[in-house]
Amino acid sequence: MDYFTRKSGKLFCESVSLTRLAERYGTPLYVYSLRTFVRHYKIASRAFGDIPHSIFFSAKANSNLTLLKVIADLGGGCDVVSLGEYKAARKAGIKRVIFSGAGKRPDEIEAALKGGLEFFGVESENELELIEKIATRLGKTAPISLRLNPDVNPITHKYIATGLKTEKFGIPAGRAIKIYKYISQSDRLKPVGISMHLGSQIQTVKPFVEGFRKLKAIFRLLLEQRIVLSHIDLGGGWAAPFTKNQKLPGPSDYIKALVPQMKGLGVEFIVEPGRSLVGNAGVLVTKVIYLKTGYSRKFAIVDAGMNDLIRPALYDADHRIEPVLLRGGRSTKYDVVGPICESSDTFSKKTALSALHQGDLLCLFTVGAYGQSMASNYNSRLRSAEVLVRGNRDYLIRERENYTDLWRKQKLIDLKNLQKIKP
Ligand code: LLP
Repeated sequence: MDYFTRKSGKLFCESVSLTRLAERYGTPLYVYSLRTFVRHYKIASRAFGDIPHSIFFSAKANSNLTLLKVIADLGGGCDVVSLGEYKAARKAGIKRVIFSGAGKRPDEIEAALKGGLEFFGVESENELELIEKIATRLGKTAPISLRLNPDVNPITHKYIATGLKTEKFGIPAGRAIKIYKYISQSDRLKPVGISMHLGSQIQTVKPFVEGFRKLKAIFRLLLEQRIVLSHIDLGGGWAAPFTKNQKLPGPSDYIKALVPQMKGLGVEFIVEPGRSLVGNAGVLVTKVIYLKTGYSRKFAIVDAGMNDLIRPALYDADHRIEPVLLRGGRSTKYDVVGPICESSDTFSKKTALSALHQGDLLCLFTVGAYGQSMASNYNSRLRSAEVLVRGNRDYLIRERENYTDLWRKQKLIDLKNLQKIKP
């Protein structure tokens, strides 16, 4: 569920009309509903009941500082995968940070050790050695949670499936005990947890049940070796709805399915949701620049491009599109496309929409996660503004870029004498 609704045919985010926001801030425009975002967080947290738990929002889904501050204010932590995300989380006031990712750089490890963290989600022996070396040099103890690769099929798009043994992620279960023994004997490493992350947009609870069972088996074997962990981290990956009537588990269902098996382990459970919290809290409002009839198709060329939202081009993602103002009448099928010079700059094909006019506003749904966070300046286009709505108020939480921003780090060098270069 979300708090985007229609009143007399006009789309609203909570109590604010999307037309008004587009007039005020221009398009393309990312608009977020605070109530939707907070609702999902609270629903997920409540589902744990009396099981000790924490929610670490996955900053890669959306790293807008204000949204991260919302998480901080709700008492949540952050799962980060780069120093940029680490710094963003800290700047937003996040107290507890997990550093995940298969390729942490030495400077990132050093900064996190100095700045403090809940644990590193470690993905290889090689990485562990480097963390130990850096911790030794700094005179620090590094908290470690091994990310297991449980070899579970998450049944999702192949680009976002991570829990299978053919993927680069995590450590094969068979090597886990040996590595934990090494960690527990090291002066500079402390075993604190065991983690998994199976993939993203996983639409059933089954893979989580299976993955958790495998994690628990290793957790128990470790107990026999007197290696006592304080955390079990089940990762993220819960789905967000992309169509109106899609029957999917909600954030609480994923947890409720696992709660019976969580009891009595004496650990804090951690989850790292991204998309399921912020996905359908965000929409992208875009304007129809041109209407065009091709050989056999009608195109609506809009002012948002794959630089604003790359998911359709990258994963064939189908984000629901609706006109901001419903005119009614007979519908026509349009390919909704962006202005970028690539055929993959297509948001949807043959989408039935009430007849469009030049200048109409369209709304793309479920873009709060991996929308703006994956945006780029491709075609030297400026990145969009972001607005957060709370009730009848709206807040600009990211200004639209300008051309100075675009060239900020570039140097214009006059290389001279180019005629001297021999071909
Ligand atoms: N934890 C770890 C270690 C992760 O790698 C991820 C996402 C998450 C948590 C959060 O997963 P979520 O709850 O959002 O599914 N760009 C892709 C999604 C990539 C997800 C990568 N890892 C997309 O647009 O579909």
